Amino acid sequence: MDPTTFVLFGATGDLAKRKIYPALYNLFVRGKLPQPFSVIGLGRREWSDEFFRASVEQSLRKFSRSEANDAGLLHRFLQAFRYSVLDIGREEDYRKLLELVERREAELRMPPNRLFYLSVGPEYFETIAANIQSSGLGSANGWKRLVIEKPFGHDLASARELNRKLSESFAEEEIYRIDHYLGKPVVQRLESLQQANPVIQAMWTNRYISNVQITAAESVGVEERAGYYDHVGALRDMFQNHMLQLLMMTAIHLPHESSPEKVRFKKKRVMEALLPVLKEDVRLSVVRGQYAAGSIGGKPVVGYTSEPGIAPDSANDTFIAARLLIENNDWRGVPFYIRTGKRMKEKSTRIVVEFKEPVKQAATGKENGIAPNLLVIEIGPDESIKLRLNTKDAGPDGGFKPVQVELFESPKDSPEAYENLIGDALNGNATFFAHWDEVELSWQWVQPVLDAFAENLVPLHKYEAGSYGPAESAALLAQDGNCWWFDQ
Ligand code: BG6
Repeated sequence: MDPTTFVLFGATGDLAKRKIYPALYNLFVRGKLPQPFSVIGLGRREWSDEFFRASVEQSLRKFSRSEANDAGLLHRFLQAFRYSVLDIGREEDYRKLLELVERREAELRMPPNRLFYLSVGPEYFETIAANIQSSGLGSANGWKRLVIEKPFGHDLASARELNRKLSESFAEEEIYRIDHYLGKPVVQRLESLQQANPVIQAMWTNRYISNVQITAAESVGVEERAGYYDHVGALRDMFQNHMLQLLMMTAIHLPHESSPEKVRFKKKRVMEALLPVLKEDVRLSVVRGQYAAGSIGGKPVVGYTSEPGIAPDSANDTFIAARLLIENNDWRGVPFYIRTGKRMKEKSTRIVVEFKEPVKQAATGKENGIAPNLLVIEIGPDESIKLRLNTKDAGPDGGFKPVQVELFESPKDSPEAYENLIGDALNGNATFFAHWDEVELSWQWVQPVLDAFAENLVPLHKYEAGSYGPAESAALLAQDGNCWWFDQ
């Protein structure tokens, strides 16, 4: 791994404390940080290096998965950290930053490989990227990378505009767009599940698969993010990015030898094959919901429009369910059902692949007590992959019963998404980052849905907090003779 300077914009922010410092520390503990390694934290506040290090240390004690109580180890880790005040719009601050970066590179005798991590609001992306370029920070004799967080645009047009601006300063191969769902350990295993198992690979088509269900349910509500969430909704917050990424990762077929380019190429092909939805038809395949009062785990909670900071007449979506169709030879006729929502019964992110019932079909079509085979991929908070098969009890009158075959269960202390992703970005491995093509194609699919919502062409269904969403979500699957698995 190349010696690297990690330049962090937004170093005093919440994401840095909760995710980025713990991720760096855990990589360090596992010997997976480059050597030498330099971190320059940037923020508006007037902090000293000491104060910055103390704040990083505090965040490790609070949020790191490996304990931060070995003083020697901590000291060695924190030695790499420096802080500089930066006003994002002030050019001279970038020149000061360049001096500091170069000074550290000289002290540590390292080449000018620089990773710029933008842990700031998207409204600052363009300005920062342009200033990195014009100050000379980005034109050194090493490599440069830009890591950015979602949201990438607010709709198709703004995403294109943002990309155009960023591409004036960074090439596509230098841009690492974080979608933290792609860093989740089970999502990262999806490709090897197919690659290492010809049985699964062979069955990964419309010949054997009846439908695919992707759920990201959350029991939390809007929390302290009313200002953000009420302008975004579930469609932009979860669906356009995380959910469509999960769809791509499920639907791709990978060759034995895979590479970032191949993965991205295949994902793009999936998105290109997604059947577009016309604005007028959105209501036929998309269910829009908003939570009403209810109870979660026995505790009463208020409805969305009674949450602090939310307008009492807000028509924002806190739940989306949709049926998507992939028009290619592998997936034609297999509905992909996706749903995500706040204030649902439980926190659970999972993919269920339901197989067809050849025995039933081959015989007379009569029920025979055989439940469909399912591949159940639990992404969080449980992390496992299980295959549900049927077995027959011994004896002449024995009936069928389902058994679970466990293919994978994540160890309790598996790396967090951010640890995986930051490690990959440092290594220059872009496999699990969102390429611009994917982002653009995702917005392309979502745009008519946004338009239909804006024009009120899709009813907004209230659902009780603590439920699995509005009844219309179950009805969407019932139209095809299917139902959501594991809702009870
Ligand atoms: C974020 C969304 O991207 O993902 C949040 O902005 C959401 O609204 C979160 O709560 C869910 O992530 P996870 O990893 O907890 O499933």
